[in-house]
Amino acid sequence: MTDDLPAVVAELEHLLKLRTIPFGMKLFERREDMEAIPKIRRPQAIHTLDQIVGQASRLGWTVGITSEDLVGAQCRAVVGLGEAKTDAWKSGRHMTGVWFSTETAGVNERNVREWLAAQAASGYVDYDDTDGRFGLNAQQRAVFVDEDGPAYMGGGFELAAEMFLDEPKVAEAFRSGLGLGWHERCGCLFRGTERFFRPGRTANLLDVWLPALEGVEAKLKAGARVADVGCGHGGAVIMMAQAFPNAHLVGFDYHGPSVEHARAAAEVAGVAGRVRFERAAAKDFGEGGEFDLITMFDALHDMGDPVGAAQHMRSRLTAEGTCMLVEPNAADSLSENLKNPFSRIMYSASTMICTPVSMSQEVGLALGAAAGPGRLTEVARQAGFTRVRRVAEESPSLVLELKR
Ligand SMILES: C[S@@+](CC[C@H](N)C(=O)[O-])C[C@H]1O[C@@H](n2cnc3c(N)ncnc32)[C@H](O)[C@@H]1O
Repeated sequence: MTDDLPAVVAELEHLLKLRTIPFGMKLFERREDMEAIPKIRRPQAIHTLDQIVGQASRLGWTVGITSEDLVGAQCRAVVGLGEAKTDAWKSGRHMTGVWFSTETAGVNERNVREWLAAQAASGYVDYDDTDGRFGLNAQQRAVFVDEDGPAYMGGGFELAAEMFLDEPKVAEAFRSGLGLGWHERCGCLFRGTERFFRPGRTANLLDVWLPALEGVEAKLKAGARVADVGCGHGGAVIMMAQAFPNAHLVGFDYHGPSVEHARAAAEVAGVAGRVRFERAAAKDFGEGGEFDLITMFDALHDMGDPVGAAQHMRSRLTAEGTCMLVEPNAADSLSENLKNPFSRIMYSASTMICTPVSMSQEVGLALGAAAGPGRLTEVARQAGFTRVRRVAEESPSLVLELKR
């Protein structure tokens, strides 16, 4: 264990912000504490701080919380039950046996106790044998409660749930080869997607990604016209509207219910008067040459015709306009990706969600979520973009700046 604990903590926080450590892990301060647990009972996800920091910086890990659990068949049933957020849940270091009042929540205490035992068995809550109470420590709160923090993983569990719920439809798509559209899927996909990507966006959009683009921040402050394509529930548009009150923002998505949801979210956020959300496909939106900035967050690989979509985005930019493409941070080859533990999540989501979505649309190119910078650059070039620059390299996503 390194002596310089403040430096380790600072490094951990840094990596956490980048979402590059397996932050759901149980941390032991000393290797001996970890090794005191019989190997057979030692989950893979137990590490000492120095191991994690060392491995993370050596391997450049990009790992979500306990990927084993994300793909585990029980995770949604067990974690999802805890989605009701009460003050007791949020603050509870020591909760009185159950984490919220079973009377007011209208649930049966015996069921909740068993659920808490399951959570404790997974290390998702702590259990204190001396008084029979359960509680959340700081890491558990960061992962399961703090929706706006960089470590929140509730959305990931919701995405995993969608994969199970829609598995029969995906299996049918495997047989037919016809794909499965975004709009044909269980509603938890739409909410889970927004919640899954929000922590990374919160940590990076305003502080890292937008400042990395040439001249874009100044334009936003001065009142740029911005489109976000494939906007989903509108989180990025709302965040930019809050940060840049002079900007004119519009979010486009082909999925009607997501557009409705984005409008409602803008109302709640108090920016409804300054943003628009419209139902439009990536190859249909807007008028020619009107936008200074077009953003697309984790959506290009879902498009059936990403080259056509990029071509259309290019046509909607002003002459000096910029397109910012945010995609999963994959490498250029499968063998490279296989060295990255996060690829388990990336390829699973791509198999169950992204690839079938793309195959359901015209052209059906099926880029896959792990397309990587080389392939994405090729798509941008085929669409006519003359400058493609990778920016914000120290970030959990791959960010490309495209110029006409
Ligand atoms: C993975 S989600 C990303 C949503 C959002 N950008 C975010 O980061 O939360 C992909 C989005 O692309 C949208 N989409 C897929 N194909 C589309 C198309 N051809 N035109 C417009 N939107 C599309 C879906 O409806 C979905 O909202």
